[in-house]
Amino acid sequence: MVLAGLVSYLFAYSVTQHTNILQITNERNLNCGAGDNKVTNGYVNLKNGNLFFSLFQGKGEAKHNGLVIQFEGGPGATAFDYPFIGAGPCQLVPDGEPSLSGLVPAPYPWTDYANLLVVDYPIGAGWSYNTSEQNPGSTSDTAAEEFDDSLQIILKQWPKFQDQPIILSTLSYGGTTGSHIASTVLKRNNEAKENFWSARIIKQFDQLLFGNPFADAMSEIYAQWDVVCNTEPKAYNETICSHFRDDLTKCLDKLRYLDEIENTGELRLDAMKYCVQTPEIRFELPIYNRYHKSKPKCFPSNLCFWWMGMLTDLMNSQEMREWLGVTNHIERWWYAGPAMFRFINNADHMQNAYKLLQPVLESGTRLLVYSGLEDTMVPYIGTESWMNRLPNPYLKAFRESETQKVSNDLFRGTVINPGSDLTLIGIDEAGHLVEETHAALTQEMIRVAVQGKNYNPI
Ligand SMILES: *[C@@H]1O[C@H](CO)[C@@H](O)[C@H](O)[C@H]1NC(C)=O
Ligand SMILES: *[C@@H]1O[C@H](CO)[C@@H](O)[C@H](O)[C@H]1NC(C)=O
Repeated sequence: MVLAGLVSYLFAYSVTQHTNILQITNERNLNCGAGDNKVTNGYVNLKNGNLFFSLFQGKGEAKHNGLVIQFEGGPGATAFDYPFIGAGPCQLVPDGEPSLSGLVPAPYPWTDYANLLVVDYPIGAGWSYNTSEQNPGSTSDTAAEEFDDSLQIILKQWPKFQDQPIILSTLSYGGTTGSHIASTVLKRNNEAKENFWSARIIKQFDQLLFGNPFADAMSEIYAQWDVVCNTEPKAYNETICSHFRDDLTKCLDKLRYLDEIENTGELRLDAMKYCVQTPEIRFELPIYNRYHKSKPKCFPSNLCFWWMGMLTDLMNSQEMREWLGVTNHIERWWYAGPAMFRFINNADHMQNAYKLLQPVLESGTRLLVYSGLEDTMVPYIGTESWMNRLPNPYLKAFRESETQKVSNDLFRGTVINPGSDLTLIGIDEAGHLVEETHAALTQEMIRVAVQGKNYNPI
């Protein structure tokens, strides 16, 4: 009995020793002719799994400016594309080699103005992993709690970030992911303020920077129909468009039930049957690239972005494994691996996360949304739709603001409610991934964000 008690005590002791700790796997300099850029790689070991990150230190004085945390879409896609397609100091190029020596200086790196934290999030994407005893979240609410736990550990490891502005930057499904994260952080902060014994570091996001955000299934789905079947050039023929149209009413009906009455995994999966098209319909049958309608169609969808194959080769190279300090816990880096299947199997995307932003904006966090106008996967008009309906202190001003045309050195497009804490920007000639075509613009948004403002194009 005594021995058994001791064994279980030791076991419990060793488990607590190995969770909620930060393990640095490697600190390296990234040099592609752009000077030495310090990068710290590591894991945050949590109860439910192990989250991989790289912290790209801001260049020179920029390391004191602020912290930008980048999230990607999916659901379940890693954010590790961003540092290597222009946001980090060194990037891949279409005719280059997928190796560290093949990287070239990025012309407009975010790291000129801020520190950049990139995560293989959620657990199960990229180098993040779980053991068979660990059960990571498979929906964005539970995964947000895991990220909040990680952020607490990161803020304790680097106390300087407690005093710097923190910007939550996302792409695509990151509109849902980011809404959950921002609201979870706020909720836990408020709980900690009520609890005298809490050891929590209370830190709020200064700004949310959402690129082509999927944050409301309903408005994105009817907006998609509008841009692919009701706008010239139409992406599909009459037969396919009328099938979409037939499913649309049923889909929206089911999403409303989920929103207003009852939300279960089974009901979400049922809604998916009417709301989500097959990859063949999305990518093989349209006449153009759904992510950028001025480009030729791409199928399978990993061919839609030139860097996707190169990034996968780079991340899986022995050289990169060593550089990152990744050991043999995990065989292969996937852009969207097990995490994506877990989230899709739970139909996580049948939701309208934008509503979670109300208390976040009320508490003083700014929101800047930008959208490439050539995108038909998460179309601008769907984003404008939920922003026009999100209760918050700036809603009246936002609704009263006209859509203004913009033309300047950084871009041509539109802006609604410029110079405020809630702004929407539409970008001509940009698709789903604005960073790919308008790196100078996104860099400017970051530069201004860490100064405590939303970028104002006017
Ligand atoms: C990770 O957790 C999931 C359950 O969420 C499980 O199915 C899977 O096998 C685990 N992964 C590994 C490598 O054990
Ligand atoms: C529409 O496109 C689908 C898929 O390419 C094809 O099978 C069908 O025959 C087309 N219908 C018409 C009326 O052209």
